[in-house]
Amino acid sequence: MPPAPDLVERLERHGQTELLDHWDKLDLATQRSFEAELRAIDFHLVDQLKETLVFADPAIDSIDSVRPVEVSRLPRTDRERVAHRLASEVGEAILAEGQAAVVMVAGGQGTRLGFNGPKGTYPIGPVSASSLFQIHAEKVLALSRRYGKTIPLYVMTSPENHAETELFFESNNRFGLSHLRLFVQGRMPAVDRETGKILLDGPGRVAMSPDGHGGTLTALAQPGVDGGLSCLEEMKELGVQTLFYFQVDNPMVRIADPTFLGLHREASAEVSFKVVEKLKPDEKVGVVVEVDGRPQVIEYSDLPPALAELREPEGSLQLWAGSIAIHIFERSFIERVVQQSQLPFHRAFKKVPYLNQDGQRIEPTEPNAVKFERFIFDALPLAERYAVVETDRILEFEPLKNATGADSPASVRQRMSDLFAGWLEAAGARVVRRSDGTVPFGIEISPLFALDGAELRSKLPAGLVVEQPLHLR
Ligand code: UD1
Repeated sequence: MPPAPDLVERLERHGQTELLDHWDKLDLATQRSFEAELRAIDFHLVDQLKETLVFADPAIDSIDSVRPVEVSRLPRTDRERVAHRLASEVGEAILAEGQAAVVMVAGGQGTRLGFNGPKGTYPIGPVSASSLFQIHAEKVLALSRRYGKTIPLYVMTSPENHAETELFFESNNRFGLSHLRLFVQGRMPAVDRETGKILLDGPGRVAMSPDGHGGTLTALAQPGVDGGLSCLEEMKELGVQTLFYFQVDNPMVRIADPTFLGLHREASAEVSFKVVEKLKPDEKVGVVVEVDGRPQVIEYSDLPPALAELREPEGSLQLWAGSIAIHIFERSFIERVVQQSQLPFHRAFKKVPYLNQDGQRIEPTEPNAVKFERFIFDALPLAERYAVVETDRILEFEPLKNATGADSPASVRQRMSDLFAGWLEAAGARVVRRSDGTVPFGIEISPLFALDGAELRSKLPAGLVVEQPLHLR
């Protein structure tokens, strides 16, 4: 079957006819699926991105206009501690009234970790080897029980890992959650970095990749299967006003932290960000800053060293507010953003295998392609009111990114064990530690046993001594 004339005409208009080079060799079924794939591509958008991100370099903000952003710091005085306690009560009321939902993004490809499967299925528990998904799901379940209201969990997957993620949740009985919904993010084609031509991954298959976690906002607004309610519409029906957002890779995240929710609500914020103090200028976290008086995140790869290294007179980093990808969004804000504006795309140069004109599959040794991604934090400047809240990284940030070294399974398990040891000690137990303060064995406390140190205190027998691996559940 020849390709449909209107499709050919469209590809000609956008200079992408090479996509049809191998059409005649495809069987009928592949021709059909390929045609559907091509029709789903927004060629106007690809043209724009070629002009702005492939054939040109993106504009960089002038360094002079970048300033530190105002942050609600960790409480240091009694007065500040009281204010945080009051904020926490506001947040608890939001949870008890069923006004909050939880959104976890898990659509990434996890290339750096080198794990063959959705990252959320990675067995990270220091003793039980429970998966990231299990740890997050049990926190949501424990919160729902604590506040007597179902807290819905929405998990964003990508077309590449959706089926496997769904199967994982189903085969684990959804970890007991009563409201779990998976939703799929969009994709973007990769293009050749010299010519801007869209690459083929194989015969009848475009080289597509997830459109970045900025795709979350649009994906939340997409109709459900068979035209059912979108996630946002469903949330509205459930009375959800506020969405707590985080990344699957951080098992230490305090999901729906009431203090954070409360500070967000007290500021009447549309968007809130949690930040930690950066450890060093080149730490791989985005920084929250002000540019020309508007809040914005500069990604670590875009932060000029001259800015990253600016210091205050007493030596601390000037742009210290590292974004740990824990956010709160008002539902009404997301509804407005998806209707009125689109988040910008960023480019990434990657090695993308492709089919050449002779039909051979080439495995490049150097980055040959540009991938396009949206970043969720680009929503921040669109907010009319916002809050940036500091947290202690020891208590809630140790993401799983790499196979070895920093942010690896070993470092994440160690930090989880150290955190739980601290809870145990605060609850009266004695825990054996190394001379550098770390724990020499795994300790794990299931969120269903205790969600925090305070809950643990009420459950722990007196005089407990921990000198070997411990798993409480
Ligand atoms: C990210 C942030 C960085 C932040 C750091 C904190 C970006 C661009 N940067 O860096 O500012 O300080 O986390 O840990 O995000 N994901 C999707 N779909 C996608 C792409 C990613 O769901 O299309 C999810 C992944 O599953 C993962 C998360 O987003 O959970 C982070 O993506 P990753 O590419 O690992 O970002 P980092 O470079 O680590």
